[in-house]
Amino acid sequence: MKKEYKPVHGMWTSRWVFILAATGSAVGLGNIWRFPYITGEYGGGAFVVLYLLCIALMGIPIMVAEVMLGRRGGLSPIHTMSKLAEQSKVTRRWAGIGYLGALSGFLILSFYSAVASWALIYVWEAAQGVFQGITAVQSKAHYEDMLASPWLLLGAHTLFMAITMGVVALGVKQGLERAVRVLMPVLFALLVVLIGYASTTPGFAEGVGFLFAFDFSKLSGEAVIVALGQAFFTLSLGMGAIMAYGAYMPREIKDKSGRSRPVSIVSCVVTIAVLDTLVALGAGLAMFPLLFTGGLEVGQGPGMMFVTLPLAFGQMPGGLLFGTLFFVLVVCAAWSSSISLGEPMAAWLVERGLRRGPAALVVGLAAWLLGVGSVLSFNVWKEHEFLVGTFFDNIEFLSTSVMLPLGGLLIAIFAGWVMKETHARKELAMKSFPLYLIWRALVRVVSPAAVVALFVYSLWSVLAADDAAAEAGADGDPVEQTAPVEQEAR
Ligand code: PHE
Repeated sequence: MKKEYKPVHGMWTSRWVFILAATGSAVGLGNIWRFPYITGEYGGGAFVVLYLLCIALMGIPIMVAEVMLGRRGGLSPIHTMSKLAEQSKVTRRWAGIGYLGALSGFLILSFYSAVASWALIYVWEAAQGVFQGITAVQSKAHYEDMLASPWLLLGAHTLFMAITMGVVALGVKQGLERAVRVLMPVLFALLVVLIGYASTTPGFAEGVGFLFAFDFSKLSGEAVIVALGQAFFTLSLGMGAIMAYGAYMPREIKDKSGRSRPVSIVSCVVTIAVLDTLVALGAGLAMFPLLFTGGLEVGQGPGMMFVTLPLAFGQMPGGLLFGTLFFVLVVCAAWSSSISLGEPMAAWLVERGLRRGPAALVVGLAAWLLGVGSVLSFNVWKEHEFLVGTFFDNIEFLSTSVMLPLGGLLIAIFAGWVMKETHARKELAMKSFPLYLIWRALVRVVSPAAVVALFVYSLWSVLAADDAAAEAGADGDPVEQTAPVEQEAR
């Protein structure tokens, strides 16, 4: 007889807390760091439209599926999936979705902490006025110096991992809920302040124009795939973070008059996707005008946030204050995301009998240790390349380009084809039948097809890049070599 696991983690206090927590997971480095620079590289407005389409046609349906599975199971993703497989009378191997997800969360957490901690260092430095009056060459050198200092990076990585797993250790109510209740309003307020600041700069109109001018001639097949991958990563899909958060979502909640009202998954998910998108666009609105004001290049890749932006702040009146606030914003966003990366694995350990504290400690220590490899990839191990690049590149590629899409594909297949339809329908409890049918068609056909395309393309692009590298011999593109993340095309 298989052991029955009971939900032991507690529930979100309200529908809004679930929305805040899931938005906290979704809004992160993907929105503030990655979205603006890929939009810059793929030409602005037309890319934004593609991205919005991917969110609507693939992101939202898969997110609905994840929350639905999570709420129905009520357990950590691993146990949720094995419970649901049993209910649907299919092999318990479907629990593999949970294992795969927990593992991807763990891998992502390891390098996410390494990168987020750069922002932690930048908060400190911006507040000290390090970027005031800096030149382009100095800003680049500054960034490279930071990456060349393993001890500094290790210290910041340790601090970031400690604050992340500290929250996980405190549990759903005392930890996660309290953290997002503070972090998310701070994040939104900071973003509004920074957009306000950007709107006072002379480059504002140009920045807005860049984000919203639809020049479709700039689009390529590659842009489609990048937009698809971005939609996936930014909504935290395919790894169980959203499934775990869904498990803490009540089915009904009492309104002010004491009457029980059902909590609709679809309306929560749409709200989360809209908020996530607003933050990504807001980050673009806060950043591009500054770059245009400073006459700086917008399409130069991952260094945008750590090289070009400090330069822009350094030249502007009020740049010390607003530059510091900007990096505080990045840290808040990354923090609320990293919590959700550690939660599925920690929750699983708790269900297996560990207390919260030790469970968080085990996951945190292991992810920290793996993250050391990512930290060293920018200095001591920089030259050690294998498969797709450095240690960091490999972990990042494996988790975000292989494991997330695979997890998403399996989730869509399970929710659309494997699970009993009556179960899915009951859990979703959608009022509108046509809307339900649209969801079902998207999750059965459109989303899986999109994920397969993404998958094939990203593997193909790596193989092609390998061939190109072999042909080019040792002297690759020097600009690419200084970029922290080398595969743009996922
Ligand atoms: N969505 C987060 C971001 O945009 C990253 C993330 C991915 C978090 C997967 C959790 C799970 O930065």
